[in-house]
Amino acid sequence: MQLTDDERAICDGARGPAAAKALRILVTLGDIFGAERLVPVTSAQISGVSYQTIGEAGLEFLEGFADEGARVVIPAFLNPCGMDRRRWREMGVPAAFAERQLRIIAAYERMGVALTATCTPYLTGIVPAPGEHVAWAESSAVCYANSVLGARTNRESGISALAAAICGRTPAWGLHLDENRSASLVVEVAASLDDLADFGALGVHVGQLARGRVLAFTGLPSASPDQLKALGAAMAASGSVALYFVEGITPEWQLAAAPDRLTVTEADLEAVRRALQTDGPAAPELIAVGCPHCSLAELQAVAAQVQKGLRGRRRWVCTSRAVADSPAAAEAIAAIEAAGGQVLCDTCMVVAPLAEMGIRRTATNSGKAAIYLPSLGRQAVTFGSLEDILSGV
Ligand code: F3S
Repeated sequence: MQLTDDERAICDGARGPAAAKALRILVTLGDIFGAERLVPVTSAQISGVSYQTIGEAGLEFLEGFADEGARVVIPAFLNPCGMDRRRWREMGVPAAFAERQLRIIAAYERMGVALTATCTPYLTGIVPAPGEHVAWAESSAVCYANSVLGARTNRESGISALAAAICGRTPAWGLHLDENRSASLVVEVAASLDDLADFGALGVHVGQLARGRVLAFTGLPSASPDQLKALGAAMAASGSVALYFVEGITPEWQLAAAPDRLTVTEADLEAVRRALQTDGPAAPELIAVGCPHCSLAELQAVAAQVQKGLRGRRRWVCTSRAVADSPAAAEAIAAIEAAGGQVLCDTCMVVAPLAEMGIRRTATNSGKAAIYLPSLGRQAVTFGSLEDILSGV
């Protein structure tokens, strides 16, 4: 790779051993992926925050890196962790888990990372412009940044996003380059989509077929930002999709020569809904919405539905602290909590230690969560619309 004089100096230790290590990580990754240079990035979103996912080895690495003097030089912010930092006791999170989780957060804080703890930074005022290069890690945030915002990011790992935050750069390969941002698969949607769960089911189905390709949707006359958020999250989870276009809606639309084509029907979506349903007919122990983290509009939709049925069940509504703290959200949050729900920040149903908390059966309206909960959370899953899961249908 071609490095600038500044980059060479960092590599040689001009900014200390941690920055040198970070730059060497980026150069190694760039060599692996055939990058010719590093590209400056304006922000980094860092995954690998939950003790549930990174464990003791991750905690030790982060504390050691902070001790070595690792410090970020661009706005950098965290993905969700394994618990609400203020309400973890109320959630039922074991104290030993909480102690380690708080140490992970403290290590990131020492490095200068903002403790946003959300997968929807774009709902909290962090909105890169079209064409802006960033280094984001959480797969749904990456998909949204590329597709809905028109920004440019590869799907960074936790460690490569942290290295990018420390160096202010990332290797210029993949979706940072024009030539890799053309769709090789065109998907005609011949099914009606009403609820977020429908967009999640569509995303699960198409992601499984696309397998990391850039794709373009036709036949979607409208899609709200929340619906695009659900669609991208599910495609990222089921098929590592990091960029998609929707005709007439997303800012970019480039097709490769002679793209493959497929049509998605109602029957396809029904088959996906059945496949995601791994629990039996009994009521779930946890009803969890907010994957990706809820927007204000989603909180309001939950507030309008939450009065229905299934009182006595745990009901989690996951969102960012920034959205929860906004005055506009106060009324919806009060309604949800008055009906027995918990509006949780900093965390989600996938990265919280559900099994350790005695929860084995979870209902969700998220295609992404429905994919990950059986493996990562050891959960039997009920998948359905917001209305259905809240009312126990
Ligand atoms: Fe976000 Fe957790 Fe879902 S990090 S995208 S709410 S799995």
